[in-house]
Amino acid sequence: MQAKILVTRHVYPEAIDVLSGSGELDYNDSSTGLGHDDLIAAAADKAAIVSQLTDPMTAELMDAAPELKVIANVAVGFDNIDVPAATERGIVVTNTPGVLTDTTADFAFTLLMAAARRVTEAERFLRDGRWQQWEIDLFSGHDIHHHTLGIVGLGRIGQGVAKRARGFDMRVLYHDIVRAPANVEEELGVEFVSKEQLFRESDFVSIHVPLTDDTRHFVGASDLALMKQSAIFVNTARGPVVDEQALAKTLADGAIAGAGLDVFENEPVVSPELLALDNVVLAPHIASASVKTRTRMCVMAAENAVAVLAGQQPPNPVNPHVFEGR
Ligand code: GLV
Repeated sequence: MQAKILVTRHVYPEAIDVLSGSGELDYNDSSTGLGHDDLIAAAADKAAIVSQLTDPMTAELMDAAPELKVIANVAVGFDNIDVPAATERGIVVTNTPGVLTDTTADFAFTLLMAAARRVTEAERFLRDGRWQQWEIDLFSGHDIHHHTLGIVGLGRIGQGVAKRARGFDMRVLYHDIVRAPANVEEELGVEFVSKEQLFRESDFVSIHVPLTDDTRHFVGASDLALMKQSAIFVNTARGPVVDEQALAKTLADGAIAGAGLDVFENEPVVSPELLALDNVVLAPHIASASVKTRTRMCVMAAENAVAVLAGQQPPNPVNPHVFEGR
């Protein structure tokens, strides 16, 4: 009997090509996810699930799916999956690291620059027909070059952002739970500092840590209060890493100059306080969204699922010891 595979939402067709030879597909070819109960019902007889970050993969779902061997997430982040619950039940969890690093780092820089140079604010002004004449201080913003960037989390994406900053002759500070080896610091030209120093000294702060129990609200009012009034805050990681209400208040008070945000605490809901502000560039969680990268992410997730179904070690396990224990 063929293994049953659930694909929870629309994916690039190349992923379906990879999956179709390996089992019987139950493909929800729609951008609207299955509701909680339908998702659990659809998972019940499946050996593999290709999930997306909007699909909660709970212990309840896993208990309802006795055949389940693998959850292959189409994302580098996997905070939508109860990994300890999967590990306990012998279910392999996989993600898609690496392929999205450069695309996401590009986008963090896009937001940083757009916020610094007030691009979206200026475009709204122009499109509204409000542009009357050239003016010396029309949408004057903040320089990026030769300024200081603070990277919170020097993983793959944080390092990608550091590399881009070199092209702008920036001083780059970073903070992480573990200090990078000296050769990595030297190669990237980055300086390890405390979280406090980073928030105090940076002209731009960019967040690149995963969402875990330890990083929820890792950035709060007291951190934001340390920032310069001319500074810009960027988040392309996960919304709940930042206290969104505290950030909105900091921006509304004019205590920092602006922000570029791709992620939010309660997606797809964005705080009305943020929506009301002009000095915030807002994007709907699209940092990895180039056609090439999103296609590769889908294919990678499919390949991870297929490998587990074939009894092989998948290329990108999050909990590899589960597989090794088989
Ligand atoms: C996107 O947010 C991802 O985790 O890949």
